[in-house]
Amino acid sequence: MRIYTCEDYAAMSRRAADILAAQIILKPDCVLGLATGSTPVGAYAQLAAWHREGVLSFAQVRSVNLDEYRGLSGGHPQSYRHFMQKHLFRLVDIDPQNTHIPDGQAADPAVECARYDAVIRALGGVDLQLLGLGHNGHIGFNEPGRAFEKTTHRVKLGESTIRANARFFASMDEVPKEAVTMGIKSIMQAKKILLIASGEDKREIMEKALFGPVTPDVPASILQLHPDLTVVEACGLPE
Ligand code: F6R
Repeated sequence: MRIYTCEDYAAMSRRAADILAAQIILKPDCVLGLATGSTPVGAYAQLAAWHREGVLSFAQVRSVNLDEYRGLSGGHPQSYRHFMQKHLFRLVDIDPQNTHIPDGQAADPAVECARYDAVIRALGGVDLQLLGLGHNGHIGFNEPGRAFEKTTHRVKLGESTIRANARFFASMDEVPKEAVTMGIKSIMQAKKILLIASGEDKREIMEKALFGPVTPDVPASILQLHPDLTVVEACGLPE
């Protein structure tokens, strides 16, 4: 595990963008595993800026996102498809056909999960998976207490996740209660993982995830066992 401790959110975003851009430069047709949430917004903005300046191309990049809410169409302003369009895809030259996100409106979630796993397999797996960290230790929508061995699956969202995500909706009631997410197994199969987090409020869970016991109660703790994990943090971890 490599840990880069950054001074603030801007420095964390810049370092994360450096690592993502290096992956694209090394392998222009790489498969990026992407995350939503507030943490990666700054890194995506930096990548988009490099694209605008003509120094970074996504023309051959393929992407798979971690998760999507159940019940929201891709056009819904709170869907993760919409988020990705807004913060990255429409700002760079990625081919929309090469961007994959679970379909939150699929009639049969089991069929959708199997289809999504097949997409990841057909792409040859994920080269670099970007992850944010939930306050309860979740990665993707893998909530505490669930088994580690799952691939893409349907989940009921935990109370704290619904509360944390309510800030993006008009009320708690509007937050979807279910999602489709890549599982811990899918995440661990990525060749490289980049975990990013910032803010004092993430320090305690970051310490548990990186230095505590490996347990499904802290889903991110399994990342300690990944052979190629890079952490970029601005949570104030002791050096
Ligand atoms: C997003 C995702 C989530 C977030 C996590 C942190 O696709 O899968 O696991 O990464 O909830 O969210 P933020 O960055 O908003 O603190």
